[in-house]
Amino acid sequence: MSDITVPLLDLKAQYEPLKAEIETVIKDVCDSQWFIGGPHVDGIEKAVAQYCGAEHAIGVSSGTDAELIGLMALGIGPGDEVITTPYTFFATVGGIVRCGAKPVFVDIDPVTFNIDTSKIEAKITERTKMIIPVHLYGQCADMDPVNALAKKYNLNVGEDSAQAIGARYKGKMAGNLGDWSWYSFFPSKNLGGFGDGGMVTTNDAEFAHKLKMFRNHGSEPKYYHKHVGGNFRLDALQAAVLEVKLKHLDSWHEGRRSNAREYEKKFVEAGVALNSSEAFEKRCEKPVVLPGGSEPGSTLTEQENFTSIVNQFVIRVRKRDELMKHLREKNIGCEIYYPVPLHMQECFADLGYNEGDMPHSEQAAKETIAIPVYPELSSEQLNYVVDTIVQFVGA
Ligand SMILES: Cc1ncc(COP(=O)(O)O)c(C=O)c1O
Repeated sequence: MSDITVPLLDLKAQYEPLKAEIETVIKDVCDSQWFIGGPHVDGIEKAVAQYCGAEHAIGVSSGTDAELIGLMALGIGPGDEVITTPYTFFATVGGIVRCGAKPVFVDIDPVTFNIDTSKIEAKITERTKMIIPVHLYGQCADMDPVNALAKKYNLNVGEDSAQAIGARYKGKMAGNLGDWSWYSFFPSKNLGGFGDGGMVTTNDAEFAHKLKMFRNHGSEPKYYHKHVGGNFRLDALQAAVLEVKLKHLDSWHEGRRSNAREYEKKFVEAGVALNSSEAFEKRCEKPVVLPGGSEPGSTLTEQENFTSIVNQFVIRVRKRDELMKHLREKNIGCEIYYPVPLHMQECFADLGYNEGDMPHSEQAAKETIAIPVYPELSSEQLNYVVDTIVQFVGA
């Protein structure tokens, strides 16, 4: 057996070259004893706003809370419907339900795993208040049709950019493509903190102001409460770490994109893989289907208008569960994002969906597997992943 080990993500390798710089800023925060708000929170808010091109960025306690306070500040609640995808992390839909509103699901495009925008309009009713597209795995959803529908029906658009800080759509960045947006700084994200953290971005000054109140129990000034918000603040320690890491973010994205390109090339050269659009549009067959781009016929990495930050590199395979077991036996990290689409989750049974209602999401949940793509992956590790999968699917 090979002695190579490939984790799904190697945060120690990311930390090593940044150690001195990060320890300095952590010491700074400790010396100042300023843990809530303060210069580091202001600093990362300004830096993220500048990075994504939005006018306002509001640091909060997590990506989950970022969405939640936005929905609370908009007054989304009982009787309202919010259109979104069932193929996303739970938090996207958990926030809608926690506000008392009803999620209305639209199936995904099987090539990109993002919401199929051609199916949204049929789901709009007079109760629809919002559309939440999710930029899954770091590739932007097709935002022009979403924004056009929002304009036509006077709906709010909140982009779930939790997995997509730095992803681009037609030259603009995720986080600046709808009415408002949110990022997650969960450690496994491309920009990950040393714990939980998140951020809302928007170009609407009044909304930004309201969010700042909501993250602080709805108060302004202190102890005078205009709204019922909560404690949704971003820690100064997290902010300080994120300030250091943000400077390296673009080079990490590039490392991930370069690994994704290598996978695309090597699996095709080995004769076992097809790009997703060939598989779905041309109905070709191969044991591995690579993640597809939104542009017709494109691979994930070769598109002009959809620049993915490859938060995850997700392939489809037959015998997915057997492959997962095999990879783990061979010391290769892998994960399923996500094994149960949200319309089939036990806690959402009262929404009344049945198996077969979202066929592309259900199929993706059975066939997909994320393999290591982190920027520090060595070519030896990448080749080992490819060889192990090729041997398995060719067997
Ligand atoms: C698509 C999506 N939305 C929301 C979240 C929630 O972010 P957090 O884990 O920071 O609360 C995540 C994080 O995993 C996510 O991937």
